[in-house]
Amino acid sequence: MKLRAALSFLLLWLALAVPAQGEYADVVLNRLSEQSGMRPVVFPHWFHRIRFRCKVCHGELGFKMRAGANVVQMNDIINGKFCGMCHNGRVAWSADRCDLCHSGRRGLPSGIYGGSETGGPGRW
Ligand code: HEC
Ligand code: HEC
Ligand code: HEC
Repeated sequence: MKLRAALSFLLLWLALAVPAQGEYADVVLNRLSEQSGMRPVVFPHWFHRIRFRCKVCHGELGFKMRAGANVVQMNDIINGKFCGMCHNGRVAWSADRCDLCHSGRRGLPSGIYGGSETGGPGRW
């Protein structure tokens, strides 16, 4: 009985803890990329998160905190929204470096990859 309680507690803890790994992992964005002939986008969350405050992206830029929840178009990026607020050739390299963002393996669905084990863009 005690073991059962401990197990269900552990399962609950895991269920709650796993989503938080998104903070450290890479996020693959593939709502529109592949259907438009581009590789999926790999966004290294940890790499950015140690350089900027959460609210820069999740407040001011309006990125929803759920993998795959944001509809991002290249026109927005080129016009300085989403990734384009920084990837504009001033804060960071500009939007014409297609391959640096569209670096994911074809066929990868949007989601969280790498758990807490990646500190930069992994090869997904
Ligand atoms: C700073 C990162 C970044 C760079 C650089 C970048 N993209 Fe994107 N791109 C994205 C993101 C994020 C999305 C949305 C991904 C999704 O949901 O599929 C996207 C989506 C797209 C889409 C599908 C949506 C649409 O607007 O039609 C195309 C096509 C595309 N990119 C082409 C390009 C090309 C071509 C280049 C280089 C000239 C480029 N991208 C450079 C981040 C980038
Ligand atoms: C440079 C921009 C940026 C910064 C800074 C940033 N995030 Fe994110 N975050 C994103 C993007 C982009 C996504 C993916 C959204 C998508 O897939 O549509 C994301 C996704 C998430 C998710 C969803 C993960 C999941 O499991 O679905 C969480 C949670 C999150 N961020 C939390 C944070 C926290 C907490 C901080 C600060 C410690 C932070 N973010 C800082 C851009 C950022
Ligand atoms: C708040 C500013 C900011 C936003 C928003 C932002 N980036 Fe970045 N990003 C940076 C900076 C700064 C660097 C480091 C540039 C350098 O090293 O020259 C970087 C680097 C990167 C790298 C390379 C990481 C490495 O290991 O060298 C990738 C890939 C990347 N960004 C993708 C994205 C994508 C995709 C988005 C949108 C979903 C995005 N970024 C949004 C600021 C930002």
